[in-house]
This record gives sequence, C-alpha cells and structure tokens, in this order.
Amino acid sequence: MSKIKYDFGSGRSDPSTFPVESLKKAAVKAIENEATFLTEYPGNLGHEGMRIAMAQRESQREGVEVDPNHLLLTNGSMQGVTLSAETLQEAHGDPILIEEFSYPGTLSAYRNLKFDMQGIELDESGMRPDKVEEALERGKRENRLPKFIYTISTYQNPTGFVMPKSRRLELIDLGKKYGVPIIEDNCYADVHYEGPLEPALYALDDDPNIIYLCSLSKILAPGFRLGYIYSKPPMLERLLARRSDAGSNSLAAAITAEFYKDGIGGHAKVANPVLHEKRDLTLSSLEENLGEICVWSQPVGGLFIWVRIPEDVDRAKLWSSSREEGVAYLPGQSFHYARKDVAYLRLAFGHLTPDQISEGIPVLARCLNAARTSNESRQFESLF
Ligand SMILES: Cc1ncc(COP(=O)(O)O)c(C=O)c1O
Repeated sequence: MSKIKYDFGSGRSDPSTFPVESLKKAAVKAIENEATFLTEYPGNLGHEGMRIAMAQRESQREGVEVDPNHLLLTNGSMQGVTLSAETLQEAHGDPILIEEFSYPGTLSAYRNLKFDMQGIELDESGMRPDKVEEALERGKRENRLPKFIYTISTYQNPTGFVMPKSRRLELIDLGKKYGVPIIEDNCYADVHYEGPLEPALYALDDDPNIIYLCSLSKILAPGFRLGYIYSKPPMLERLLARRSDAGSNSLAAAITAEFYKDGIGGHAKVANPVLHEKRDLTLSSLEENLGEICVWSQPVGGLFIWVRIPEDVDRAKLWSSSREEGVAYLPGQSFHYARKDVAYLRLAFGHLTPDQISEGIPVLARCLNAARTSNESRQFESLF
C-alpha cells in the first residue's frame, strides 16, 4: 500500500498557522508567573485564568454573561463527551438520542458505555425536531425516556450544517417538555467563515439541563488536549461529583490563558481565512471533478464537507483504490450511529496544503469513477 499523500481523513486545523513564537512567549510567562500553582493539583474546575478567558470567549460570541465558575476544564472536549454521558447514565442499555450521522469519537464512547443509541434523521438544518418528538413520545409510552439528546448543532460533524435558531428553540422546548437533558457539542465554535452566527442553546435558555461542550482543538491545536464543559447548578455539581481524574492539565491551560489574554479574535483572524480559502478550493475542485455524479454540503464553518456518492459505487473498492493512490477519506459508515454502510464520504480540508487539495481531489474522482458499477446518471439532487 502506498503512503497517504492526500489525507482528507482527519479533522485538524492548518499547521502553518500554529502560533509558535507567541506560544513560546506565553509559555515562558505562564511558567514564571504560575510556578506555585503548577506545583499543585488543579482542582475539579481547573485553572482560573483559562476559565475566565473561555468565559469571555463564550460571552463575546453569544452575547450573554457566562460565569467562569460554571466552566469545568476538560482533557479535550472528548472528556466532556464521556463525563457528561457517564453523569447522566443509570445503567447499560439506557436509550439516548443522537444525530443519525455523528462524530465517530462520540459514537465510540457511547458504544463503550453501552448506550442504546437511537439515530435521529438529519436534514440541511440539522437534527429534525419532528423525529426527536416521535422518539421522545415513544420513550414516554414505553416508560423508557432517553437519558439525553446529543447534538452537534453548529458545523455539524460530518455534514457541516448549522441548526437555525427556530429549530434550536424547538429542541429546547422538547427537552423541557419531556424532562430530557440536551448535550450540545460546539467543538467547531469560532471556526466560522461566512453568514450569520446561530446562538448556542445555553444562550437561548437558562435551563440547567442544557450541557455545553467546547474545545481548543479546532481553534488552536488538538495536542493541547483542552476543552471545557459549561453547565449550571445543579447539573454542574453532578458532573463534578462524577469526575475522578484530579483535574486537567494546568500547564496547557496557563499557556493558553496567557496566549488568549486579549481574546481569541486575534488568532482566529489569522487561522480562519486560511481555512476558508481551502474550503473554497475543495468545493471548486469537487465541482470540476465530481459535479456530474455527486452532491455535497457547502459548510459555512468547521472543517468538513459531506459528499453523497452514487449507490453504484463499489465502496470497498473505492476505499482500497483510493489508499493505493495515496488518498485518505472517512467513509459514511464511520459516522452512522448503527454503522450502516451508507453512500457518503467525509472530506476534511483543514490541514492539507492547497496543492494537496487540488492534486488530491482529481485522484479521488478518478478512483470513484473507476469504482462505479454502471454508467447511470445521478439519481439524486440533494444530500438527504
Ligand atoms: C463533534 C466533536 N466533538 C468532540 C471532538 C473531540 O475534540 P477534542 O480534541 O476537543 O477532544 C471532535 C473532534 O473532531 C468533534 O468533531
């Protein structure tokens, strides 16, 4: 098997915008100023300066006050995914609601925790509230209400779609009506390219049953392993009681807090335009090479494009021939809550160079055409 030259598989930011010099300065300052704190255990909420910086990040974006004492720093948002799920779980086999296509890391965590995942259909505005209501009604009838609803409402992974405010309000109402908590994973927050910003669920309602997860992985780097949960009492106390890892990495938090002491806008202004250009390049390259046979999302933020491919593509063959040709992507099946082999694939464009994108998409297109088992024209016009 040849080496992967065009890795459209993993969702990472552009390495060329990683702010080495500023972080070096921030690291020196953080270590000098916080030597004593670094010799102590961080505590369950974690480094205060970092919580203040992230509360500012949130309140600037959302236009509401965010109390830093309601933020709990985590080891990436992935720890937020597992900690919130463990907190709300009563027993193996508990039902939960999740978008039909979702982040593989979350799916794997929920499988490990032995949840009974119920997939909710998506459309171009995200999770469908009519289907959520159907599932909740069924759960109520059977005396088996879901323990929570998990949603990636903004730049959804893998589809890239953003849930409009009206639908967010519907979802909140449903959560309240049935007494089911909602976990909103906003991992891609602030990786925004164009158009209006939709509010986070917590900015629309004070309900403590709304748990919010966020991350530094996509605006800074996943190697920092920094994320946070924003949650109001009494849910916050439940999360803290469930935590048993002695807190998150104070050094990473202290450096990041110093780096972002004037807000996150400065670095976002450097990082986002570079990603925006690569999104445009990937979209135009798809149009040129696959416009006749596929359709795909046009994400206004985040790192992914969700591509619907013809049913007649031999998906096993596409996978192996693409890898032979040096192209990696993630197949639709990786995102399906029940691992169904669906005719989609996800392309991540963040960390490739522009040359890799413009060379790699035609290679993928060649493999895709060669893996088709008929010459029929496209049988669909939309993603769903
Ligand atoms: C929706 C979603 N949640 C959580 C994560 C995990 O991110 P982190 O590096 O913050 O743990 C990812 C990473 O791709 C993601 O896409």
